[in-house]
Amino acid sequence: MYMMFFGSSVLLLVGMAVIWSILPFRGGRLLMLGNILFLLAWFAVAVVASLSIGWEFIRQIFGMLAPMVASPFILLAIFRKREWWNRLVKRYAIFVAWFAVFMIAFQIPAFPDGWTYFACFGLPILIFFLLYVWSRWFADRFRMRWIVSGMIFVIVGFVFGSLVFNATAMQANGYESSMDWGGGKITNVKKPVDVTTLTGPDAADVTKRYHFTAAKKGIEVPDGTKKELWLFNGELTGPAIRVTQGDVVEVTLTNKDIADGVTIHWHGYDVPIAEDGVPDISQKAVAVGESYTYRFKADTVGTFWYHSHNQSSEQVGHGLFGSLVVEPKTQAKEELEMVGFVAPKYIDATGVLLSGNGTVPKKIKPGTNVRIRLGNAHNKPQKLFLNGTVFQVAAIDGNAIHKPTDLKDTYLQIPAGGRIDVTFMMPNHAVRLFDAKDERGGWVFQSTTATTKASMEVPDEVFKPEEYGEQQASKLDLSTGFDREFEMVFDNKLAFFDGMVHHLWTINGELYPNTPMLMVSEGDIVKTTFVNRSYSHHPMHLHGHKMLVLTRNGVATTGSQWWTDTLNVKPGETYEVAFKADNPGIWMDHCHNLDHATNGMMMHLQYDNVYTPFSGHTHE
Ligand code: C2O
Ligand code: CU
Repeated sequence: MYMMFFGSSVLLLVGMAVIWSILPFRGGRLLMLGNILFLLAWFAVAVVASLSIGWEFIRQIFGMLAPMVASPFILLAIFRKREWWNRLVKRYAIFVAWFAVFMIAFQIPAFPDGWTYFACFGLPILIFFLLYVWSRWFADRFRMRWIVSGMIFVIVGFVFGSLVFNATAMQANGYESSMDWGGGKITNVKKPVDVTTLTGPDAADVTKRYHFTAAKKGIEVPDGTKKELWLFNGELTGPAIRVTQGDVVEVTLTNKDIADGVTIHWHGYDVPIAEDGVPDISQKAVAVGESYTYRFKADTVGTFWYHSHNQSSEQVGHGLFGSLVVEPKTQAKEELEMVGFVAPKYIDATGVLLSGNGTVPKKIKPGTNVRIRLGNAHNKPQKLFLNGTVFQVAAIDGNAIHKPTDLKDTYLQIPAGGRIDVTFMMPNHAVRLFDAKDERGGWVFQSTTATTKASMEVPDEVFKPEEYGEQQASKLDLSTGFDREFEMVFDNKLAFFDGMVHHLWTINGELYPNTPMLMVSEGDIVKTTFVNRSYSHHPMHLHGHKMLVLTRNGVATTGSQWWTDTLNVKPGETYEVAFKADNPGIWMDHCHNLDHATNGMMMHLQYDNVYTPFSGHTHE
């Protein structure tokens, strides 16, 4: 719906611009009539859009562009008998119409800055004035006046472009200097704690020990080509960590030859901040030849994963990730368990599933209980199909679903960084699990009773976590009194980045590190609203906490509690989530399309009672 609104408003503006351009001096009445129709249609689209998706999505697009687009009509109504005036206004109209197309295509941010206001209000006035001066005094005295006026446009456009769209985002891992207190109390903690002291258990308590070496290695990737990957212990999907609830896990990481340094982040696992693996916040990146030891207590069961958090887009993309599964202590596990991760972008962009624990058995007895722990290491959401059986979604991001119901002809959409556990009972025919992009067919589970073909048909019903499972009583819901409420609005921005024009992704109009940190006090109950006005999905990942989804597009969730650490926010969607601030630290909150994170879409959640020694900055 949102994209439809966008598409049609761009098309209508283009239509208007084309009419102004091709019939600038001949069209007369017809021209006016045509353009007025386009203008009215454009207004109509805006009204429909604001009624269906919400005013917050279009307030700037509509509010700021409308005066500009309507201005030629108003100007034409004045002195409409004078020929020179008509010419002038029509030239101006060509500029305004094309400029509106440009502005809408690159989106006016939800938080327009001074330059955006200048672009929408000041610039048209300036252009009109220049055209006036030009057409009154110079136009008839020069030949080649079209070339000259064309050049003026280009120069103005260029100067303007470099001013308005100049922006920088930092790839570095420092952190923000401004703060957002979410409408709550502004505190001033006298003696904040150094985050590096907030560590996991002691070495003496360790029950499971791992040694990981990060190194480059040339191996054959699933599409058959040989590539140099960056891997932990030389394994693609990394060495699997599988422990039992209550274990104390220790992982010693050594960097053999990853030049920029490596860390390990335990994605979705709420470890103490010093174990979180974010360079320049909780540790320094582990340089070549050096080691670092992580320790945490595995008290939460479920499917998680780990990955390097230094230049994540590059490093995860090249293979520095693996699965982390914590099994329950008491409850028996499924008879057959598979771990499958969608490969990251540099390894196989076609959505291949990498097995994280051996291969699918050749034959499976009907009646066998199967659990597949799925994860997405890619930077885009993945559509996964499970054909040939009814199945249940047993967990989302490691959080068990209360009373899952049977699903059929439904596909799963796993956000970048997210996990979904599916369970099913093996039928007496084949079952197929595959990614929409993977034409090689994914995994086939054959039954011992018959060899059959599993269909590759693709259902178009998507799994809806917001209404799945059975509702249970919740301590946290919309009626909770929140100590702080934050809003995170996502927009596109065209800007210079690393010396090149780039599509950047902003949170509240800003690029990291200019986005104010979300400030909380320990114990706060926090609500965050995500509004996605941009053209892309943003899987929002908060470190160190689980978020409970309260509403989607303003409608309260109805099923089992939907706890998540990576929430995919689609264009035009709004979500409200809640979490308890019970894990002091400085936590990343970012888009897990790691390209977007690199291009500015990240920020921090900071507790008022901690500081990091690495940037030498406390909040005071
Ligand atoms: Cu899976 Cu901050 O990352
Ligand atoms: Cu994103």
